[in-house]
Amino acid sequence: MGFFQKLLIPSVALVLAVCFYSRKEDFKPEMLKGKYVIVTGASTGIGEQMAYHLARMGSHILITARTEAKLQKVVSRCLELGAASARYVNGSMEDIIFAQLVVKKAEELWGNLDMLILNHVGSSYFKFFDSDVGHVQKLLNINFLSYVSMTVAALPMLKKSGGSIVVVSSMAGKVGFPFTVPYSATKFALDGFFSSLRQEFVMQNTNVSITLCILGLIDTESAMKAISGVFTSPAAPKEECALEIIKGGALRQREVYYEYTSTKIPLLIREWAPDLLDYLIRRSYNMEKLKED
Ligand SMILES: NC(=O)c1ccc[n+]([C@@H]2O[C@H](COP(=O)([O-])OP(=O)(O)OC[C@H]3O[C@@H](n4cnc5c(N)ncnc54)[C@H](OP(=O)(O)O)[C@@H]3O)[C@@H](O)[C@H]2O)c1
Ligand SMILES: *[C@@H]1O[C@H](CO)[C@@H](O)[C@H](O)[C@H]1NC(C)=O
Ligand SMILES: *[C@@H]1O[C@H](CO)[C@@H](O)[C@H](O)[C@H]1NC(C)=O
Repeated sequence: MGFFQKLLIPSVALVLAVCFYSRKEDFKPEMLKGKYVIVTGASTGIGEQMAYHLARMGSHILITARTEAKLQKVVSRCLELGAASARYVNGSMEDIIFAQLVVKKAEELWGNLDMLILNHVGSSYFKFFDSDVGHVQKLLNINFLSYVSMTVAALPMLKKSGGSIVVVSSMAGKVGFPFTVPYSATKFALDGFFSSLRQEFVMQNTNVSITLCILGLIDTESAMKAISGVFTSPAAPKEECALEIIKGGALRQREVYYEYTSTKIPLLIREWAPDLLDYLIRRSYNMEKLKED
């Protein structure tokens, strides 16, 4: 016990001291006032909530998704909430040309870009992998290639502004989850691409931050419908989730974990006991419910 205490107390003190002195600056909503921000997949869900937060902070916002009617409603709400300006472009991210066009639109409107928030996802299934390779390819186009292509198109503006790229990913982009094989593959791909690119940005003195967001289950309509009783973990609120993503981007953090304990702790377990984590994940599915559907 004596030895343990001798070791433990100084260690804890050291960790606390390091945490205290390396504490980064605090987030202030003014950080986004008058900034130029693109949010993809903003017709509903977390993207829609990000648009509302940015509006309250007084940003210029360009949103995109496929459904024009929903985008129009989100734009009017953003203007009511105090956005410096709010516009939309509708189209599908399956089309790489459209992905580039969204960035071009920002260039025409503003000639400037401070933050690129990549958030959209194509719809997929929630069941055992069905061997449909075509679907994997389509989902890679929507969830991965369009992210790459928007990043490439936006880089000149982001370099000029010392801007930020925010990539919305998932726990399913860090560990294997059943029933979302194609989705999970696209999210792992984002980690590979953007974590490698971040390294190169540092080596090349490119002052553009990359924030990868690892989200647990969030209470958006589409997620709640997909898991409908099969996955039994509680869902976190989309409004708070949206704010945490924006904060992480503004503070130029490398990664955001939301909710922190339900994402960070399982990932720490994975480092030391991957089979245990896999087992715990499998146990959180209600297989009876899956068979009913
Ligand atoms: N909700 C969760 O539990 C959860 C968990 C982990 C990670 N995430 C991540 O968080 C992000 C947002 O999730 P969410 O739950 O808010 O999703 P969501 O509610 O399903 O919204 C998806 C958005 O993407 C757009 N979209 C879909 N297909 C598209 C296409 N082909 N081209 C362009 N836009 C398209 C949708 O609009 P249209 O249909 O109008 O095109 C919508 O605006 C995603 O990256 C997701 O992977 C979510
Ligand atoms: C945008 O939406 C309108 C109305 O639904 C549609 O006619 C148009 O083709 C869409 N634009 C793109 C690029 O998909
Ligand atoms: C990088 O950009 C940020 C935000 O625009 C700025 O605060 C910082 O001073 C820049 N750093 C360098 C080294 O230019």
